[in-house]
Amino acid sequence: MERIIITGALGQIGTELTLKLREKYGEENVLPTDIKPPEDENLKGKPFEILDVRDQERMKELVSEFKPDTIMHMAALLSATAEKNPQFAWEINMGGLMNALETAREFDLKFFTPSSIGAFGPSTPKENTPQVTIQRPTTMYGVNKVAGELLCDYYHEKFGVDTRGVRFPGLISHVKEPGGGTTDYAVEIYFEALRSGRYTSFIGKSTNMDMMYMDDAIDAIIKLMEADPAQLTDRNAFNVSAMSINPEMVANEIRKHIPDFELDYDVDPVRQGIAESWPNAIDSTEAKRQWGFDPRYDLEKMTEVMLEAIRNK
Ligand code: SER
Repeated sequence: MERIIITGALGQIGTELTLKLREKYGEENVLPTDIKPPEDENLKGKPFEILDVRDQERMKELVSEFKPDTIMHMAALLSATAEKNPQFAWEINMGGLMNALETAREFDLKFFTPSSIGAFGPSTPKENTPQVTIQRPTTMYGVNKVAGELLCDYYHEKFGVDTRGVRFPGLISHVKEPGGGTTDYAVEIYFEALRSGRYTSFIGKSTNMDMMYMDDAIDAIIKLMEADPAQLTDRNAFNVSAMSINPEMVANEIRKHIPDFELDYDVDPVRQGIAESWPNAIDSTEAKRQWGFDPRYDLEKMTEVMLEAIRNK
């Protein structure tokens, strides 16, 4: 992997991924794209192109000009947003993915796209969820993610495209806040802890979901993409998680730094329903075994860095 084009580069993952890839592979070797121009100072004035992932012609045009060897397809609507407008979610999530895969096939690009814990459903084993298991999601986002995993495997089998992916849990970062996800509470809670000393959670008290700090997520992407293909028995997509947590656990950790922090609840039935349909804790053994997934942040360490970074903003 030497030259990379990214779709959805202004999203929660794309923003930090762009910065890290530029640092590692050189600014001239990374082309971030998104549907709107960047506002972030770090991205302004550097190579960047507008791209609506539904526009296959434009995607191919950019690839034929930039000549990357890898495409990282990050553009997607998250779970709660997708539930509000399922037809539109299909158009963006599946239409965009199909265009990106076709581009990868035509230009012989390595391919990464994230799947999610959302690819599981209520009939999936909740604890220690295996890599290969029942996947019958009940959300449009989940349907998109399972179909996406299968489509990526299909492109590998049928056309030899080097497709690779992970099932990300909720990702926590202080650089760019997520939008429209079920796991977003775990980011908001840190910002609000410092802003107002209190937070009202839309997810219930003891609802456990998998999470991971963004640095570990970006490392995972790079590690997987650089792994020797001979090591990979699975491809789309690997379970990866660093912790299984609930709002109460996050609040207790925050109180070690902000003793008066208050947490109360106003549970949103839609997002709570989505959360309850997902596993409590997935098993990342295969990612560790096949390509050395090795997250460095647990809840304690992540809380320290989140609070410190937000305080310094
Ligand atoms: N963070 C995502 C969401 O909540 C899960 O992939 O939608």
